[in-house]
Amino acid sequence: MFVRWAPNQARFFNRQVARYGTAFRAKMPLYGTIAVFASSRAAEQLLKLPRSIARGGEATKILRETAGLHAVIVSDGDEHLRLRKLILPPLHGERLKRWEGFVERRTLQDIETWPVGKPFPLRAVTERITLSVISKIIFGMRDSERSDELRKLLPAIFDIDPFVALGFVSKRAQLDLGPWSPWGRFRRKRDRVDELIYSEIADRRRELGIVGAETRDDMLSMLLEARDEEGKAMTDEELRDQLVTMLIAGHETTATSISWAFERLLRTPEVLERLLGALSEGDATYLDAVIKEALRIRPVTAQFGRVLAEEAVIDGWAVPAGTLVMIPQTVLHMDPTIYPDPQSFRPERFLGGEDPGGYEWLPFGGGVRRCPGASLAQMEMRVVLTTILRNVRLAPDRAKAEKPWTRGITIVPHRGGRVVVTERLRRQPVSGLAEVAA
Ligand code: HEM
Repeated sequence: MFVRWAPNQARFFNRQVARYGTAFRAKMPLYGTIAVFASSRAAEQLLKLPRSIARGGEATKILRETAGLHAVIVSDGDEHLRLRKLILPPLHGERLKRWEGFVERRTLQDIETWPVGKPFPLRAVTERITLSVISKIIFGMRDSERSDELRKLLPAIFDIDPFVALGFVSKRAQLDLGPWSPWGRFRRKRDRVDELIYSEIADRRRELGIVGAETRDDMLSMLLEARDEEGKAMTDEELRDQLVTMLIAGHETTATSISWAFERLLRTPEVLERLLGALSEGDATYLDAVIKEALRIRPVTAQFGRVLAEEAVIDGWAVPAGTLVMIPQTVLHMDPTIYPDPQSFRPERFLGGEDPGGYEWLPFGGGVRRCPGASLAQMEMRVVLTTILRNVRLAPDRAKAEKPWTRGITIVPHRGGRVVVTERLRRQPVSGLAEVAA
């Protein structure tokens, strides 16, 4: 069962649902008994359970080795609520608008380096862009040696090979046989990332104590000043864990969504044409529908889950305490009763009040754990898509669609979303590159 699940979770869920219906149980190594519910009705019931009963942190405990023990993503109950309240403000509203210019300039800077007529994987490119963006939003670092080293090291703690992943689930597999062994290499890199982050936190704390020091608007500065309801600030460990979580959760996901949007757009010429027309008229409504449709047809994660602290009734089934309940978005988003002709890429389904919304469109999960980076991710998608479409004409390197493939916890285009630049549309002067490169 696990062997079929691990390499391609989306296909696994689709096959099991076709065989057993929208509610089934399975025994999985590492997870124990899981209960899968592939209906919006069940999603709504699960997501409306109190956070003390439906425990999302327990469901993602595999992330503790990288994200840390105090990270919002692995926390539950009151602690989860406290951390959510602290991290949400910097990720919303006007604060986000300020970063749009940076995203655009960083994208233009990258476009300048793209070869014409030679295929390349767009996902690697978008990952470079989104990693720069999230690093900038989080740290706004001026110390370029530290930020350069951090950006180089980060992929090593996200791109986990299977030997390291084993160490996440069993302490016995954490074999540190020196810097050449997989776990030894991972541990050293993670320790160095921690050292760099703690140094940055220490510098900021010092700066905050200096009267008249320049005020900064990055996330770290905001989190350092944030207080919970009891007036308590975050400890260094709590800060480190939230920052690493944002870095992990906040760049690969967005990069993958952008590459899927292009993978679909470039193979659906009528949609691309309509989008180019709308953009040339300054109308962003269709772009938003394209983004929603890309996130529907190719959600970046196959499922999200909650471990039940008490027995609960979901979709008429009594699910015992201790069960990991999974909601597979990959199946839900393909329900023909909600999305007619679900395999076709048709952004129009999100226009003219047709938006299903609610518990039927769940690329960002939902309820009290809905992705706190959803607005940032959609802003990045909007700006990167528009900037690319205005500056180059792209084509897929092959007509054949790329298959969804599981890589870590994300579902990526199996050949990296390969594209070819067929034409540069205009040479747009790129201003402020020194700032962008930081
Ligand atoms: C297209 C891009 C993204 C997608 C598809 C995505 C998807 C998700 C999903 C499915 C969850 C689980 C939600 C649940 O269990 O109900 C999640 C959680 C989370 N995401 Fe995102 N995400 C994206 C971008 C981001 C960004 C940009 C950030 C950070 C700035 C971020 C930070 C987080 C965090 C911290 C959590 C844990 C929330 C909690 O446990 O309360 N994500 N995301």
